[in-house]
Amino acid sequence: MKTLLRSSILGAALAALIQGCPDADAANRKTLEVFSWWTSGSEAAALDVLFRMYKEKNHGVEIINAAVTGGGGSAARPILQTRLAEGNPPDTWQTHPGYELLARYVALEACDPVTDLYESEGWNKVVPKSLIDEVTKSGDMYAVLVGVHRGNVLWYNKKVLEKNQIKIDGTLTFDQFFAAAEKLKAAGIVPLAVGDSGIWATAEIFENTLLGVLGPQGWHDLFSGKLAFDDPKVKQAAQTYGRLLDYQNPDHSALSWDGAVRAVIGAKAAFTCMGDWTYGEMIKAGLKENQDFGWVDHPGTQGSFIVVADGFTLGKGAPDTAEAVAWLRLIGSKQAQEAFDPLKGAIPARTDVDKSKFGDYLQWSMASFAKANLVPSCVHGEAAPAAFQQAMNDAISLFVADKDVDHLTAALVQAAKDYGVQR
Ligand code: BGC
Repeated sequence: MKTLLRSSILGAALAALIQGCPDADAANRKTLEVFSWWTSGSEAAALDVLFRMYKEKNHGVEIINAAVTGGGGSAARPILQTRLAEGNPPDTWQTHPGYELLARYVALEACDPVTDLYESEGWNKVVPKSLIDEVTKSGDMYAVLVGVHRGNVLWYNKKVLEKNQIKIDGTLTFDQFFAAAEKLKAAGIVPLAVGDSGIWATAEIFENTLLGVLGPQGWHDLFSGKLAFDDPKVKQAAQTYGRLLDYQNPDHSALSWDGAVRAVIGAKAAFTCMGDWTYGEMIKAGLKENQDFGWVDHPGTQGSFIVVADGFTLGKGAPDTAEAVAWLRLIGSKQAQEAFDPLKGAIPARTDVDKSKFGDYLQWSMASFAKANLVPSCVHGEAAPAAFQQAMNDAISLFVADKDVDHLTAALVQAAKDYGVQR
């Protein structure tokens, strides 16, 4: 789209030049191309708020929304990769910190540092060091963070649970979940809504379950090569994950993650296991937190927080550097994060926001972030190299069909050997 637009702008300018009469309009038009995968109802609405704020501050800049549909960025990243390989980078693109940013883009010299912005905007003082470290290579920062998601959340339709006399008191163990699931199944309700038309969405259930069984130390050991991927605990997690899938909706592979959330919203299903972009969808649908929907840590993960942060880069060699810098300055600001994150369903990357602008869930998540063990997500590209992430997705695809625990863990062992899991 952008390529087409750019080539048509270039074409117009060129034609005008050839005719000796420059088409000033086309040549001088200012643009900003923002590449992301924010296309679900709430994602797009939240992104639009940023666009509106940007336009207020940057009159006359035309924003090209190059969002690619496909939750988790599964469809966007390959397109981005091709564009980078062709030397046609977007001005700025969505990225997760950690491996995804540092090994995919920074190592390939695809983005320019934004260290000066961190200094001039005072972000070093208000963004937690643990987050800044994940966007830093050799002393330079390479992305501006706009929000932080919690991956390990189990969401539920409160009325469906009440109707079925299921009470959740602060935490939920796997056994309690399975007991509830049996009850729901008997009542003809889908216990666990899953939308894995993008395989990452079910991989997220595995990831959360892995953390629930291993705990944060086990997670760090696993992703630093100290614990084997066929350790009995990993097998136990895979087994539990397989049991969870016994309670999913039969049409799971036809649904996207937000389709699964809609099943919970519409009381067709009781729970969904998904990061807190789910909150954005619930709120967008007009549901009230703690009244229509509730949440609880994914079983076993209380005290831990799977970090799924969103940042934007400064594309090296992209055409609209000044416009992209203005975008980054905006999304790193307090005003933008206070406006965007409550709609997106994320907590701000900054710690100096007005918390009263955030609802109960997000305040709960902020409190969790401040004291929990923070662990990077593998499904969202932070904990391991892209090739490992891909191999895990492939292994999960097979597992969803055959539920073979040994097969899954053997594939993960092989992937760790082939691609490594240490930065
Ligand atoms: C992103 C979120 C997004 C989710 C679903 C994650 O990878 O970090 O911003 O809402 O995918 O698309």
